[in-house]
Amino acid sequence: MECPRMGQWLSLLLCLLLLLKAEGVAVPTTFVQSAVAKGAVCLDGSPPAYHFHKGFGAGINNWIVHFEGGAWCNNVTTCLARRDTRLGSSKKMSQTLSFSGFFSNGQKFNPDFYNWNRIKVRYCDGSSFTGDVEAVDPKTNLHFRGGRIFVAVVEDLLANGMKNAQNAILSGCSAGGLTSILQCDRFRSLIPAAAKVKCLSDAGYFINLKDVSGAAHIEQLYSQVVETHGSAKNLPASCTSRLRPGLCFFPQNVAGQIKTPISFVNAAYDSYQVKNILAPGVADPHGTWRDCKLDIKKCSSNQLTVMQGFRTEFLKAISVVENSPSKGMFVDGCYSHCQTGMQETWMRSDSPVLANTTIAKAVGDWFYERRSFSQIDCSYPCNPTCHNRVFDDN
Ligand SMILES: *[C@@H]1O[C@H](CO)[C@@H](O)[C@H](O)[C@H]1NC(C)=O
Ligand SMILES: *[C@@H]1O[C@H](CO)[C@@H](O)[C@H](O)[C@H]1NC(C)=O
Repeated sequence: MECPRMGQWLSLLLCLLLLLKAEGVAVPTTFVQSAVAKGAVCLDGSPPAYHFHKGFGAGINNWIVHFEGGAWCNNVTTCLARRDTRLGSSKKMSQTLSFSGFFSNGQKFNPDFYNWNRIKVRYCDGSSFTGDVEAVDPKTNLHFRGGRIFVAVVEDLLANGMKNAQNAILSGCSAGGLTSILQCDRFRSLIPAAAKVKCLSDAGYFINLKDVSGAAHIEQLYSQVVETHGSAKNLPASCTSRLRPGLCFFPQNVAGQIKTPISFVNAAYDSYQVKNILAPGVADPHGTWRDCKLDIKKCSSNQLTVMQGFRTEFLKAISVVENSPSKGMFVDGCYSHCQTGMQETWMRSDSPVLANTTIAKAVGDWFYERRSFSQIDCSYPCNPTCHNRVFDDN
């Protein structure tokens, strides 16, 4: 939806009001005090937190549990740097969070899920909710407990009504989208067997790829995350029995063994992955990739060739997901990252479509088994409906 320019005041005002409504509802924070006794705490030792918007009507026993993203911290230095920020402490988080798109309570914005219980869990552990180290070094006061937060939050929600769930979705975006892959079967095991449970990963399919300098940057980073946070015991055993734990942080090494139905919404040119896995700052000391990473339209033809190579590797990595109606896939040919939580990419008149289908429709059809949806888009720039991200210089 676009508003007119300053000229017509009244229509501008009305339009902004409508836009605000479409931009979603502000939901206050709940601190999960029951988690503290279980040692399930943020990096700084504060209680974990979520934002809970209650279901209503026919959706009263349906639950979306969504895990927020925000990259990772891979060693004491980088974890200390985030300890006293919103990504490490519930004392630093905003008071409210806006719910729109997949989290909207408006039927016309979110027809299949608007009346569900919708929960956004804040990210404050730096390990995609996998860590579990008992010891706390008094010099840093760092708590590596993301895996405990995951379980404690689910237990808290069970006690608050989710034990009666008929339908439940574990979802997440970015580092939280990785959580919904790595913890999918655990989530299933925590919910009563009578419920229908599925997982949805938005922009969580991070691939193991050498960067543009030829270094194994992401592989090293993930190994350090898993080592620092003691994540190995919370990663799928079907992977850790075959591969070293750091490799089991990659969806491509676990996705083939997930038993619970799962769907992946991911741009083939995931902008976070291009910026941080393909061409991270350390691999591009002269900033040759800077403009291209900020705006795909500014990529040189050589860089676009490298981007197409990234897409090829991405498709190879996601090909381990077998073709079955329980598995969903919406891989659009866009330069984007996290598309379910924003109305403009979830469902709007100008939203991205793949096979003539919005993300909202594809996810709804897959969850309710109206039809299977597993589609891979043509390559950039073939899809005119993409909302390609343009980033500010930073
Ligand atoms: C921690 O990780 C960062 C980012 O990868 C790296 O630059 C730094 O050298 C590491 N610090 C230590 C002490 O290993
Ligand atoms: C796409 O979907 C719309 C509405 O659902 C429909 O009217 C249109 O005919 C479809 N177009 C194609 C090419 O299938």
